[in-house]
Amino acid sequence: MHHSSLDAPSRAAFLAQHRQLDALCDRVLEVFEAGDRAGVTTIWTEFERAITRHMDGEERRIFPSFRLVDPEAVERLLVEHSQFRRRLAELGVATDLHLARLEEVRDLVKRLRIHLSDEKAMSYRAAVSS
Ligand SMILES: [Fe+2]
Ligand SMILES: [Fe+2]
Repeated sequence: MHHSSLDAPSRAAFLAQHRQLDALCDRVLEVFEAGDRAGVTTIWTEFERAITRHMDGEERRIFPSFRLVDPEAVERLLVEHSQFRRRLAELGVATDLHLARLEEVRDLVKRLRIHLSDEKAMSYRAAVSS
């Protein structure tokens, strides 16, 4: 397999993970909106792990093919990843202390969804150019 191409199975797995993260975002908002403290701790752990695992895999397996198409866009996505990692850690501490504010969680979800949408658009470009 040519290293540069975003092959169809990798792209399908990447998009499937995005759909799972999107569904998880809905559940996170539901639990925070309900104000269920035990539920918040559980779902936050799942959310943080899922996003972290996704970003790690993306940086190793997906971004190399994106970089060939648009290196500057990849730099922006990497900056966003580091912002998400920092924000997840900060909100994780706040969640443990029952201090995470709904507005902050909504803001993170909104930014995450924009990021997923930008990556999806990028994946079309990487697939056609390979
Ligand atoms: Fe990403
Ligand atoms: Fe992603």
